[in-house]
Amino acid sequence: MAIDRTLFIIKPDAVQRNLIGRILAHVEERGFRIVEARLARLTRDQCQEFYQEHAARPFFPDLVAYMTSGPVLLACLEREGAVPTLREVVGATDPAQAPPGTIRQLYGKSKQMNSVHASDSPASSEREVKLFFGVAALTR
Ligand code: CMP
Repeated sequence: MAIDRTLFIIKPDAVQRNLIGRILAHVEERGFRIVEARLARLTRDQCQEFYQEHAARPFFPDLVAYMTSGPVLLACLEREGAVPTLREVVGATDPAQAPPGTIRQLYGKSKQMNSVHASDSPASSEREVKLFFGVAALTR
């Protein structure tokens, strides 16, 4: 598998509960390198663009309200097989369905407040890393 990069977000529920350090330690222990990271307060426009594929879903307005409710930690992560490996480390969308030891099983509160986001495909990771860190973060 090639070394590649993916977007990771620690969401407002986890930032608010002081879980940034524990969650970043979890991904570092699984072999991810942090290429770039920053705290940010997302605007509604950024959030609507980021989650554009979910725009027609009934949960979309609540999702945007939640993701703009407080700071998030945005990170570009690198590892061999970064996209599928991070999805495994993160677990299912619904923390109740996430396997033991995954970040969402350990820290998630609900389907919405599931503590973290991880890009779901190579195409999404490219779009999402570019959106928050620019094209240079994919190549540097
Ligand atoms: P994420 O992986 O960031 O991608 C889309 C987000 O929408 C998801 O995590 C959840 O936070 C949220 N989401 C997905 N499905 C539901 C749902 N059924 N109800 C509420 N929120 C959801």
